[in-house]
Amino acid sequence: MSVPIPKTPSIEIAPSILSADFASLASEIKQVEEAGVKMVHIDVMDGHFVPNITIGPVVVAKLRKCSGLFFDVHLMITDPDKYTPEFIKAGADNITFHIETTKDPVGLINRIHDAGVTASITLNPATPVEAIEKFAPLCDMVLIMTVNPGFGGQSFMYDVAKKCIRVREIVGPSKRVEVDGGIDPSTAPIVVSYGADTLVAGNAVFGQKDRKAAVEAIMAAARGVNKPL
Ligand code: DX5
Ligand code: ZN
Repeated sequence: MSVPIPKTPSIEIAPSILSADFASLASEIKQVEEAGVKMVHIDVMDGHFVPNITIGPVVVAKLRKCSGLFFDVHLMITDPDKYTPEFIKAGADNITFHIETTKDPVGLINRIHDAGVTASITLNPATPVEAIEKFAPLCDMVLIMTVNPGFGGQSFMYDVAKKCIRVREIVGPSKRVEVDGGIDPSTAPIVVSYGADTLVAGNAVFGQKDRKAAVEAIMAAARGVNKPL
């Protein structure tokens, strides 16, 4: 564990390394750290739950040695119960699992907390908020997917983003509500207006040459500067 999860209601950008150069991950993370972010989003995909394969705990452990940022680990895998301990051991600060992937969400949340890290629950665009209603209050953060998980650079699903409103009602003001998929300076203010405070951004940060300018543009938009609403 490096740093604690930032207290809400601060707005945080969590750059997703899925859009970074995988051959230079340490320096890519350094660049966003210098841009002022506190968290980095690490997408773990197993080729079963989603049609893509990314990284495992071995890579997370190596990155842990290079960075003190908060590691927000998003497990898009069929068996989070089995692999969660390995990711925590590797240095995850937060574990996000999908409600579609476990029969025992409460047990998994408890095991994540017992290991000393924060727990987050997420749902695919097609999964209704009711599926996580009972479990969300037990978590530190809820992640709303605004794309179908698997790839970066997809289009933001405007209607799905409205789930944030209900999730914020359920968890109250003290928990984080995170959004993942298609976040950029034009969509960030929309999700913030719906109650989100933690914005995952892959392409909108690592797809841009100037990462500092990219982070600042999303942050400025999220804070209401040039708010298009
Ligand atoms: C998608 C991942 C996202 C992805 C977001 O399955 O969970 O974290 O990196 O990428 P952008 O911000 O490019 O939509
Ligand atoms: Zn993600």
